[in-house]
Amino acid sequence: MTSLIRLGVNIDHVATLRQARGTAYPDPLAAAFVAADAGADGITMHLREDRRHIQDRDVERVREHVLCRLNFEMAATVEMIGIAERLRPDDCCLVPERREEITTEGGLDVAGNERELGRACERLAAANIRTSLFIDPEEEQIEAARRVGSPAIELHTGAYANAAGETARAEELAKLERAAEAGHRAGLIINAGHGLHYQNVQPVAAVAHMHELNIGHAIVARAVLYGLHEAVSTMKALMREAAALRR
Ligand code: PXP
Repeated sequence: MTSLIRLGVNIDHVATLRQARGTAYPDPLAAAFVAADAGADGITMHLREDRRHIQDRDVERVREHVLCRLNFEMAATVEMIGIAERLRPDDCCLVPERREEITTEGGLDVAGNERELGRACERLAAANIRTSLFIDPEEEQIEAARRVGSPAIELHTGAYANAAGETARAEELAKLERAAEAGHRAGLIINAGHGLHYQNVQPVAAVAHMHELNIGHAIVARAVLYGLHEAVSTMKALMREAAALRR
């Protein structure tokens, strides 16, 4: 049975934890295997210019060893386009990037950068990579995404996720619904993501034409909590085993 909605698991924050100590673990490749085994339809990785979490080698290894789709998130820079052309991910999600931001903040201004983004889409398409443009759910940006020849868009769900109160959240959801409808009419594949978690995901998954949700932080955060019991009991068992052998 083909799934009505796909899940792309963003494993950036597995690398965040590794980079915090400069250790070899936790390995994003191992996380990609577990995610794929649990039903992820794709793996998403954002190679940032400052390499704060995912490293070039991580993307290479996931590309080489993981069988599900690889969605390579990146800024539309000369460097990143070159890396994408070499690694050939299935999808490239183009995002705006600022060094000082904690995470991707707004969507791309496609309407204001049509030439540059059009050239990026062309180069990626020539490498057989499907481009997706990360945009706010606005008609102007959807139209521009269609004009520059991107086959897909990813609607930024940050405003929905951050909306304070039921009314504001319902308004943001309605924007996502209208944007998904407009994008579908324009012939685009509709994805969405950013800030989605276990309490707010279902209304977005229920939006008509939604193809894929890309989710990272909430999944890694839950894994930390629900994996903690096993992690503590395994450590304790190892310690007790060693202590019992004391002379
Ligand atoms: N989609 C895009 C384009 C993103 O930049 C991010 C954050 O890296 C995500 C999805 C995932 O967001 P979150 O980690 O909040 O689930």
